[in-house]
Amino acid sequence: MINSIRPIVVELLGQLGSSREARQYLEQFSQVNESHFAVIKVGGGILAEQLDELAAALGFLHRLGLYPIVLHGAGQQLDQALEEAGIATVKHEGLRVTTEDVMAVARPVIYRENARLVDRLEQHGVRARGLLHGIFECEFEDRDRLGLVGQVKQIDLTPIRTAVEAGMLPVVACLGETRAGQVLNINADIATRELVWKIEPYKIIFLTPTGGLLDDSGRIISSISLSSDYDDLLARDWVHSGMRLKLQQIRDMLEPLPPAASVSITSAVKLTRELFTHSGAGTLLRKGEQIDWLEDIPEPRRAALEQLIEASFGRQLQPDWLQGRRLHGLLIAQSNRAAAVVLCGHDGVPYLDKLAVTPEARGEGLGASLWQALISRCPQLYWRSRVNNPISNWYFQHADISHRQGEWVVFVNGCADFPQVDALTRDALQRDSGWLPEQAAGAQVSSGRIGEPA
Ligand code: ARG
Repeated sequence: MINSIRPIVVELLGQLGSSREARQYLEQFSQVNESHFAVIKVGGGILAEQLDELAAALGFLHRLGLYPIVLHGAGQQLDQALEEAGIATVKHEGLRVTTEDVMAVARPVIYRENARLVDRLEQHGVRARGLLHGIFECEFEDRDRLGLVGQVKQIDLTPIRTAVEAGMLPVVACLGETRAGQVLNINADIATRELVWKIEPYKIIFLTPTGGLLDDSGRIISSISLSSDYDDLLARDWVHSGMRLKLQQIRDMLEPLPPAASVSITSAVKLTRELFTHSGAGTLLRKGEQIDWLEDIPEPRRAALEQLIEASFGRQLQPDWLQGRRLHGLLIAQSNRAAAVVLCGHDGVPYLDKLAVTPEARGEGLGASLWQALISRCPQLYWRSRVNNPISNWYFQHADISHRQGEWVVFVNGCADFPQVDALTRDALQRDSGWLPEQAAGAQVSSGRIGEPA
């Protein structure tokens, strides 16, 4: 069944971006073992405002044969119910103090919200199973201060696995029990973290009504690499306490996970686009990976580097392309998905010979991190690019000086001296590309003026 509708779905997904992208992600997501695809945390706000959109988005994944594990809170609904019952909401270090009276109100509210989501999924033709108990075994977090609040001690994945094996989307509530069977309330973010650590899913998704983290002008930040952006972000005065906390929590959550794991914050409506396109729709957070600066190319990484370069240019390198190239340094991401080959150039200025980033890594913001690392290492730099190469537009924005010559553009950073720029330009144009010949590769040189981007 799934196989027969896949091509249609892929085409449909292609409407969002390219169908190649969509197919690639679908394959990636399908490769991971069924219940390891994703954990999706749904806040009470989404249940209140976007229930239909949520059911539709989850239904779409379900039809593709993907089984995200849905975990939901009910904070908003609970606040309201407590208010109606005349019970004050008391929090201690962000955790809801759960007296017996609070629990008496909370338990039915959580059951009700769980059932609402399951019912709505079923209405959308998605088989779903509400899981209210039997997953989180807890102890009291601090009985005197917090009352019936659980600290997760053990997680039993059987109910989740059984649901998935039966073709049902597991919809998990944030309730736990002590060994003796006392029901305890678990903070939804903590429950998410514990479940994520246990499952190690490929994707972790937070659905919020805003659909991402916002920058100082209210725009969604597309990607954050925690290793390079975290300190910087925390130092900004516009990063308010809620966002600070979110960033810290996400960093802690990703810490023990494999490097490929990532967190997406998006909304119900944007979920499909976030998952199936490179550029996404929402905020993608990764641990970020180390980018190494190497003064020579270690043999074990050479093949990976060549493969990356060839794949991203769609051309083949000469077998001996490195011969005669005097390496200044190689910047390369640990996953080998982004690299910059920098040569010793004219006049002691480094020449950027090749820059390659896989499209997928670009969506993650790895290209931007590589570029940051490159310009901080090489404040003076020159390079060239074909006019019709789409990346040229990006270079125009990131170079001090650009100079078009026929089908080439030469870019120079950090050199203001005209004769030097001129010499660097000439040097760039006469360099060997290292590619095996292609049909029509003849470089024409025509006149152009420095500082005049084409
Ligand atoms: N589709 C990919 C994923 O889900 C990339 C998403 C990119 N998203 C972004 N907000 N930059 O992992």
